[in-house]
Amino acid sequence: MIELTQEELKQYFSEPIFGQIAETADMLGLECYVVGGYVRDIFLQRPSKDIDVVVVGSGIAMAEALGKHLGRGAHVSVFKNFGTAQVKYKGTEVEFVGARKESYQRDSRKPIVEDGTLEDDQNRRDFTINALAVCLNKSRFGELVDPFGGMADMKEKTIRTPLDPDITFSDDPLRMMRCIRFATQLNFYIDDDTFDSLCRNKERIEIISRERIADELNKIILSPIPSKGFVELERSGLLPLIFPELAALQGVETRNGKAHKDNFYHTLEVLDNISKKTDNLWLRWAALLHDIAKPATKRWEPKVGWTFHNHNFIGEKMIPNIFRKMKLPMNEKMKYVQKMVSLHMRPIVIADDVVSDSAVRRLLFEAGDDIDDLMMLCEADITSKNMERKQRFLNNFQLVRQKLKDLEEKDRIRNFQPPVSGEEIMEIFDLQPCREVGALKSAIKDAILDGIIPNEYEAAYAFMLERAKKMGLVPSQTSSKVE
Ligand code: CTP
Repeated sequence: MIELTQEELKQYFSEPIFGQIAETADMLGLECYVVGGYVRDIFLQRPSKDIDVVVVGSGIAMAEALGKHLGRGAHVSVFKNFGTAQVKYKGTEVEFVGARKESYQRDSRKPIVEDGTLEDDQNRRDFTINALAVCLNKSRFGELVDPFGGMADMKEKTIRTPLDPDITFSDDPLRMMRCIRFATQLNFYIDDDTFDSLCRNKERIEIISRERIADELNKIILSPIPSKGFVELERSGLLPLIFPELAALQGVETRNGKAHKDNFYHTLEVLDNISKKTDNLWLRWAALLHDIAKPATKRWEPKVGWTFHNHNFIGEKMIPNIFRKMKLPMNEKMKYVQKMVSLHMRPIVIADDVVSDSAVRRLLFEAGDDIDDLMMLCEADITSKNMERKQRFLNNFQLVRQKLKDLEEKDRIRNFQPPVSGEEIMEIFDLQPCREVGALKSAIKDAILDGIIPNEYEAAYAFMLERAKKMGLVPSQTSSKVE
C-alpha cells in the first residue's frame, strides 16, 4: 500500500468528472464523497473500477442535476426502488446513492432503509478498508474520512468489520464470502474477532444465492495464491456448507501403518502450482476438481494399500452435478473441466513407464488442442515430497513433451480424423451402418496411433482392405476406388 498526503490524494481525483460532480454538489448544497472500492484501490495501487459516490441527501436528485450540468453525452439511469442512479459520461460510470442507515431482517438480504449521515453510511459497509470516503465538495476537496481505522488496517493488512462483526455478517451473509475473498485477493489477514464471527454465523450463508457464492469462489480461485481462501473457508466451517465435495477430501486414514495423503491439502497445492502458470479460470477449476472422486473411490486392498481406482472417470461424472448445484455454466467450459479431470492421470502414467510413441500418440489424440493445458495440470499434480521421485517425473515429463512435439510434426495426430471415413467403408463394402464398419474404423485408428501405418490415406486404405479380407468382407463391384 502507499501513503498519501491530502495534496497527493487530490491528484487521483484530477479527472474533470470529479470537478463536475463537486460543482453540482456545491450548487445543490449537498455533501458528497467517493467511497468504497475506488478509494481503497487508490491506496492499494490496484486498477480502479466504477466510481461510487455517496450523497448526504438524494443520490437520484444529484445524478439528475449532474446529467443536466454535463449536457450532451451524459446518460442518466435511475433505479427508484434502490434509491440509486448511474451517470455514464465519456466511458466513465459513476453510481450515486444517498447516505443511508440500513437494518436487515434475519431471513432476507433486503434491508429496511432510512436516510442517514455519512458515518451511518460508512457504518453499514462491510469492511473498514471498504468504508473509506474522500470528500469532493470544493471546501474539503480530497479530504479523507476514515472513522474506523481503514488506513491502519490496510497498513497492517487486516480485514475487519466496522461494526460488531456479528451485525455486519448477519446483515448480509454474502460478506462472509467477501471477507475470505478479499483476504485471499489482497493477501490480508482476517482479524480474530471478525474470523470468530465467521465461524458463529456460517449457517447464515444459506440465504445467499448460489450464483453470488460462485462469483466469490471464482474470485478466490483467480487470486494469486487461491489455497489461502480455501484454507480459511475450511477453518471457518463454511466449506462443507458451500462445497461439501471439496470438504470431503480432507483427512488421512491409516491402516496397518499405511496412510494415504490428505487429498484436500494436496488439491490446494495443485491449485497453487497451476495458478503460477495460468489465469485460465477453468483450468484452475480442473485443478480443484481433479481428485474430487477420491473419497467415493477409496478402498483398502490388503496387498496394495489404499487405492482410488477410476477416480478420474468417476470425477468426470460428478462434475455436472457439482456445476448444476453451484450454478456454474453447464456448457463447453464444464465439458473442458470434465475432459481435464478424466485425462489428468494419463501423462503421469506415461511418464512413469517407458515413454513409448504409441502412448504419446494416443494421449495427443484424446487431448487434441487441450494437450498443453493437460500437461500443465499433470505437472502441477506432482507434489511428491520425495525429491528424487519428483525429479524423475519432471525429467520424464520433458521426454513426453519432446515426443509430443516430434510426433505432432510427423503424424499430425492432434484433432486427428481417421483418413478413411465410415461412409467410405460402407460404400466400398456395400454395407449399412453395422458393427463391422465400426470395427474397421477403429482398427485403422489403432494402427495409426500404434505407429503400424503412417497417418496417410493410401496406407490406411491398403490396411483396411487387408483387415476386411480377414473379416470375410469383399469390396462391392461398384466401388470406384477398388477398380
Ligand atoms: N459493500 C458492502 N457489502 C456488500 C457489498 C458491497 O458493504 N455485500 C460496499 C463496500 O463498501 C464496497 C462497496 O459497497 O466497497 C462497493 O461494492 P462492490 O463494487 O461489490 O465491491 P468493491 O469493494 O468495489 O470490490 P469488488 O469490485 O472487487 O467486488
